[in-house]
Amino acid sequence: MFTTMEKKELKVSAIKNGTVIDHIPAKDLFKVIRILGLDRIDTPVTFGNNLDSQKFGKKAIIKVSDKFFEDKEINKIALIAPTANLNIIRDYEVKEKRPVELPATIKGICKCINPKCITNAEPMPTKFDVIAGDTVSLKCFYCGKVTDHDHIEIV
Ligand code: CTP
Ligand code: ZN
Repeated sequence: MFTTMEKKELKVSAIKNGTVIDHIPAKDLFKVIRILGLDRIDTPVTFGNNLDSQKFGKKAIIKVSDKFFEDKEINKIALIAPTANLNIIRDYEVKEKRPVELPATIKGICKCINPKCITNAEPMPTKFDVIAGDTVSLKCFYCGKVTDHDHIEIV
């Protein structure tokens, strides 16, 4: 028998090895899945959405078995989910726990807000300087226009 507390904890099963991305704001779950390409990998991925969280009201969690991301790869999610927390699991134990970190620059992923920008005319990856403040915005390396947080569009 499980106690009420244990029942709450068991919403998404524990994994043996891999990466658990916790404290994702619920509304951002599918963007995170796209940024990390989790719709295209072949290791087991489980996720839960709209789970109760004391900090966020509703949160999402993603568990990717047998996958350990490069910092550069995983930190991209800080753009849209700066509150996300990474847990590295080895042999069922949490071996490392850290928040995601905003990268200084970001290549690809987002669209430049300027319709006249070369990146919107040519088949080329976008490139931005990340401007951190209360919210994150992106300054285009090519045209200099700033895409504010509310307009960040994942491609
Ligand atoms: N986890 C998992 N598989 C394991 C061990 C842990 O999926 N073998 C998950 C837990 O479900 C939790 C996260 O990894 O979502 C972090 O585990 P832990 O640090 O034990 O949980 P909390 O103390 O709740 O973490 P935090 O304080 O960061 O919320
Ligand atoms: Zn541009």
